[in-house]
Amino acid sequence: MNILITGTTSGIGLKLAQDYLSAGHTVHCCGRNKPILQDLVTSFGERAKPISFDVQNRADCLAFLNALPELDLVILNAGICEYIDASNFDAASFERVIRINLIGLANCLEALIPKLTAGSSLSLMGSSSSYLPLPRAEAYGASKAAIEYLAKTLAITLGKEGIHVSYIAPGFVETPLTDLNDFPMPMRVDVEFASRRIRQGLEQRQSEIHFPKLFTGLMKTLSLLPFGWQRFLLTKVLMP
Ligand SMILES: NC(=O)c1ccc[n+]([C@@H]2O[C@H](COP(=O)([O-])OP(=O)(O)OC[C@H]3O[C@@H](n4cnc5c(N)ncnc54)[C@H](OP(=O)(O)O)[C@@H]3O)[C@@H](O)[C@H]2O)c1
Repeated sequence: MNILITGTTSGIGLKLAQDYLSAGHTVHCCGRNKPILQDLVTSFGERAKPISFDVQNRADCLAFLNALPELDLVILNAGICEYIDASNFDAASFERVIRINLIGLANCLEALIPKLTAGSSLSLMGSSSSYLPLPRAEAYGASKAAIEYLAKTLAITLGKEGIHVSYIAPGFVETPLTDLNDFPMPMRVDVEFASRRIRQGLEQRQSEIHFPKLFTGLMKTLSLLPFGWQRFLLTKVLMP
């Protein structure tokens, strides 16, 4: 397959790129960290195709990605996390998260949707935080809730053209992003587990790839409750 993944210089995206390259696929590997992209070329040869750009820069996204051939699979994974202190709401932090996670993803979509044809796949990296309103995740969760909506809408519109669109919603995964967290992270899985589940889900053409199931199943079940109940329970558990 001819694959493109954003955010392949670290964490989940790096592991996905390594696993797809090990399986013999061609992977267009994106990120800003050029030495790590070069390491992928050194390890896997010319099937690793490095593309270095900042997803926030629409002109660069279009310039680098328009030049690519047709793609079988696109995984838009690049993202950051910053937490909000609601009493001292920092709009600059909110803007950074939305610009990278959501607008950056849209910049990539503009260039990459034309590269997808019937039978190909597009997958958007969200988070299980999109299922519930989690304290301090006001910016991160808002960006991921928007991505969930976007993925599900594109699944309908692009689905009519035979393009399969999926939404990925991991729980906690051990990466440099979560290494910064200062709170308990129940059922945190490693990147090997995350990559395996994502690749399996994509192979099976699942519409929503969420894991670990015990954790995300609980989040999804709570999300079915009326909001008043969610607010009561989440306040009790997360803000005792
Ligand atoms: N880890 C978790 O528990 C978890 C859970 C749910 C969802 N997720 C999502 O999974 C994705 C990957 O997270 P991770 O945990 O693997 O984080 P990570 O290790 O910090 O990796 C983030 C990746 O995104 C890239 N990136 C960030 N800002 C960018 C920008 N402006 N332009 C281009 N690339 C950019 C980084 O590359 P450069 O720095 O080289 O640009 C890096 O490769 C994120 O969307 C995250 O929200 C993670």
